Amino acid sequence: MNTIIEVNNVSKTFGKNTSLNQVLDNACMYVGEGEFVSLMGASGSGKSTLLYLIGGLDREFDGKITLCGKDIGSLKDRELSKLRLQNMGFVFQFYNLVMNLNVEDNILLPATINGKKRSELKKDLDDILSITGLTEKRKAMPSTLSGGQQQRVAIARALLGNPAVILADEPTGNLDSKSTREIMELFARLNKEKGMTILQVTHSDECAAYGTRTVRIDSGKTVG
Ligand SMILES: Nc1ncnc2c1ncn2[C@@H]1O[C@H](COP(=O)(O)OP(=O)(O)O)[C@@H](O)[C@H]1O
Ligand SMILES: [Mg+2]
Repeated sequence: MNTIIEVNNVSKTFGKNTSLNQVLDNACMYVGEGEFVSLMGASGSGKSTLLYLIGGLDREFDGKITLCGKDIGSLKDRELSKLRLQNMGFVFQFYNLVMNLNVEDNILLPATINGKKRSELKKDLDDILSITGLTEKRKAMPSTLSGGQQQRVAIARALLGNPAVILADEPTGNLDSKSTREIMELFARLNKEKGMTILQVTHSDECAAYGTRTVRIDSGKTVG
């Protein structure tokens, strides 16, 4: 199994001088290709912090993080952006959709900003709308959709670049139980049928059960 994410003795401290808050203390974990890993831990235990470090959204840390074989600490900002764009899809608790763009324009936005033509993306867009069950909603505005549907748009947007891994931070944290099941079933299906690698942060055992393995954070260290 190829390793997509490798976290080696990563430590992270916020604050200065007298108000230091060490959130991660030599944390180690990995995610192999085709895994669906759930990162769990109490509120404030550092789950989002670790996910953001893995995603290259925060570059200040001690230790080593390798993504798709590249040590992200040794990359220039521009190289890291490129690695992120080509290999990672992000999904957050709040869907971060652009409210005055319809479903398909939201899904296409990151790719078109990065210079892709809509015509090149048409087939991928059609496939992704179908996988995420949004074909009939492709012209709908986000405000007319349920929370679960909006999160599916965010997942579709993350999938469009065909990333090696999806990083999701409490993707169902804002959803009712029916929509939560819908999103977890979509992740499980993407993982099983498409071999998509997924790392999700969750504090729900029910959500973690959809994954193939669980890693816990406690006192800044990772277990499992
Ligand atoms: N940007 C930041 N500046 C200062 N402290 C932060 C920042 N982000 C997170 N923290 C602190 O790090 C700890 C872990 O936060 P977080 O990773 O968000 O936890 P979790 O996602 O597990 O709930 C908390 O004590 C939080 O206050
Ligand atoms: Mg968090």
